[in-house]
Amino acid sequence: MSYNEKDVVRRPGLGLGRREFLKVAAAGAATAAFPAWGAAGGADRIRVGLIGCGGRGTGAAVQAIRADPGVVITAMGDLFEDRLDSSLSRLKEHFGDRVEVGDDRRFTGFDNHQRVIDSGVDVVLLCAPSHFRPAHLAAAVAAGKHIFCEKPMAVDAPGLRSVIASAEAARMKQLSLVSGFCWRYSSPERATFAKVHEGAIGDVRAVHTTYHAAPIRPPERKPEWSELEWQIRNWWHYNWASGDHIVEQACHSVDKINWAMRGKVPARVTALGGRQARPPERFGNVYDNFSVIYEYETGERCFHTCRQVANTPFDNTDYIIGAKGTCFVNGWAPTHRIEGETPSEYEGDRPNMYQVEHDELFASIRSGKPIDDGELMTLSTMMSIAGRMAAYTGQTLTWEQAMNSKEDLTPEHYEFGDIETAPVPVPGVTPFR
Ligand SMILES: NC(=O)c1ccc[n+]([C@@H]2O[C@H](COP(=O)([O-])OP(=O)(O)OC[C@H]3O[C@@H](n4cnc5c(N)ncnc54)[C@H](O)[C@@H]3O)[C@@H](O)[C@H]2O)c1
Repeated sequence: MSYNEKDVVRRPGLGLGRREFLKVAAAGAATAAFPAWGAAGGADRIRVGLIGCGGRGTGAAVQAIRADPGVVITAMGDLFEDRLDSSLSRLKEHFGDRVEVGDDRRFTGFDNHQRVIDSGVDVVLLCAPSHFRPAHLAAAVAAGKHIFCEKPMAVDAPGLRSVIASAEAARMKQLSLVSGFCWRYSSPERATFAKVHEGAIGDVRAVHTTYHAAPIRPPERKPEWSELEWQIRNWWHYNWASGDHIVEQACHSVDKINWAMRGKVPARVTALGGRQARPPERFGNVYDNFSVIYEYETGERCFHTCRQVANTPFDNTDYIIGAKGTCFVNGWAPTHRIEGETPSEYEGDRPNMYQVEHDELFASIRSGKPIDDGELMTLSTMMSIAGRMAAYTGQTLTWEQAMNSKEDLTPEHYEFGDIETAPVPVPGVTPFR
């Protein structure tokens, strides 16, 4: 077993570590003039509720505060009191009166999201584990809130269908819906994908995106935790909670295929995958590698490979291969290069994409010009779910089959206690549902 604790990360650079938190908090102290509210209403204050107070949720709250001097965090919700408390105390320590979350606006338990939504907020940040997103999004849209919605949007096709309906309702209600597909808010990626769309590499023939990473470190299990609590606290490693790492983490790279292909829907999905290097203890029932082939009616073939395996090289590069050149994109390296008939390299600004998401969300609320990420966020999530289903079953799935899948990963109940754990899927044996 090639398992090395040192090589295991919680999240490769995407959470908000203490140093990053302090840097962001200091930058957030600057204020700027801001216009009156747009469509959302009359007051200068924008009341924000955070749902899911973990690493990303706390980071999103920092970015919301930084985005607009009128933002005040007025409510917070988490399933667990300890997670809420540690997030709240960090936010209060660094942002003082920008965080007005008294005891009557801190909510825990399975209905925390509804209570945050009902507490009089204008905007919600949906940052709980992926499984809960469809329900949280539906409740936020029903209540007419503007939304920042972390990726992925669902873990199964029934959840995704609910998200499509919510996105449509948000559009009808003129709500801003910004997704956590953060590369869409990254300047170098925006410029580079625009060049590809403008024909810099000719017609796109194939795309290969990668997310080759280390495993995420699971928490230490406490004896008092029930099986359901354990699985939610260690949600990355249970496919019902995360969707598996191709949906939870590598969906960013599947989104790059969607982006390069300008939102074209694949016709068929074939995938290989398995679990070879994960230790049996504490790593739930998820795979550690996937290789997916997306075939298009018009002949293009796109490939996505991802793994979470210790002692293996990290790679997060996208290779977009066109008739007249190749485009290389790696936001972390960073590389944004086009080779071929019209070579070029991105040399512009590189603002923090996580901050840009929130800057644009709050600017859109102020101006009354809603952002609608509904289409891209649902297609990229569904392509990731389809890849997982094809790998788990070993079957080639048509897009219609994948979209109409009835596989619902919701556990049988949400009360803390025992729940059954699905076995690790076996291709050729696990049925497609
Ligand atoms: N865009 C990105 O780059 C990026 C980076 C990291 C995480 N994410 C996404 O953000 C989400 C959260 O990830 P994280 O890394 O912060 O995980 P985390 O485990 O650090 O935080 C999740 C929090 O949600 C809480 N929670 C669990 N069930 C809940 C429920 N029903 N209602 C409310 N809160 C609940 C947990 O107690 C925890 O505090 C995930 O969907 C993840 O995929 C996105």
